[in-house]
Amino acid sequence: MSKQFFFGLSEKIAIVTGGSKGLGRAMAVGLADAGATVVVISRTKSLIEDTANEIIDRGHCALAIPADVKKPEDIENAVKIILEKFGRVDVLINNAGIAPMNRTTDISIKEWDDVLDTNVKSYFLSAKAVGPHMIRQGEGKIINISSALGKMASNMAVHYCTSKAGVIQMTRALALEWARFNINVNCIAPGFFNTDMTAMQQQDEAHSRFLQAKIPFKRLGQPEEIVGTAIFLASSASRYITGETIVVDGGYSIW
Ligand SMILES: NC(=O)c1ccc[n+]([C@@H]2O[C@H](COP(=O)([O-])OP(=O)(O)OC[C@H]3O[C@@H](n4cnc5c(N)ncnc54)[C@H](OP(=O)(O)O)[C@@H]3O)[C@@H](O)[C@H]2O)c1
Repeated sequence: MSKQFFFGLSEKIAIVTGGSKGLGRAMAVGLADAGATVVVISRTKSLIEDTANEIIDRGHCALAIPADVKKPEDIENAVKIILEKFGRVDVLINNAGIAPMNRTTDISIKEWDDVLDTNVKSYFLSAKAVGPHMIRQGEGKIINISSALGKMASNMAVHYCTSKAGVIQMTRALALEWARFNINVNCIAPGFFNTDMTAMQQQDEAHSRFLQAKIPFKRLGQPEEIVGTAIFLASSASRYITGETIVVDGGYSIW
């Protein structure tokens, strides 16, 4: 294998859920820069079209498909469109997520279900939808986005922490089951990144001070700082790694 193509994704078809903004948008653009054709999925049509247009403006191929990842029919429809158009699917990045902050006593059943359905069940639904095609192809890469809070606890986030721990264990169980089909299933656990998801925490002075003190790099990550890990896990460079969770958190969780 030539060094030049070790991290390359040319001729690969990649799906990024939650690609309308934040980490998903950065990974969608990064995968395209590495050579992949990228299918960007989220509920907000105008924003996924923005991401797709940025990719096209950079000289690559992209397609935006509006979908609510909580709905099995939306995911199945998206995979059907992708197969009709491209004939295969090589990479799935399960990234869509929500993170409402709330005291346990104030979390309604609906809020609990929304978090678990978006952050965990949708990852299962997407993997289930692409799995048969990756098995038929004899290869595939699934990358699940968890969180440092899948390993560490946080206040006001029992549903979020539970969902992100579930993603880590789903990754391991699926990796074990699908290794025989040459499908790698890995996970990225980001710490605190500068996206809309953390906007409220960034505005909270006490929390900002806590993060400054806790993160050895003394700053939040920028979305583009997750891209290298995503390309690594999507590419042949990681072909003997499966069931693994790579923490990308500026050292937040090392102490
Ligand atoms: N930012 C951080 O510090 C951080 C840290 C650890 C883990 N993470 C994880 O990284 C992932 C991305 O986070 P982010 O910070 O980029 O968040 P963000 O900026 O809030 O973006 C979330 C993305 O998920 C999509 N999404 C949410 N619900 C969806 C649904 N039902 N169907 C389809 N798409 C949906 C949103 O698009 P629409 O609203 O258009 O649907 C959006 O594209 C999440 O899984 C998050 O838990 C983030």
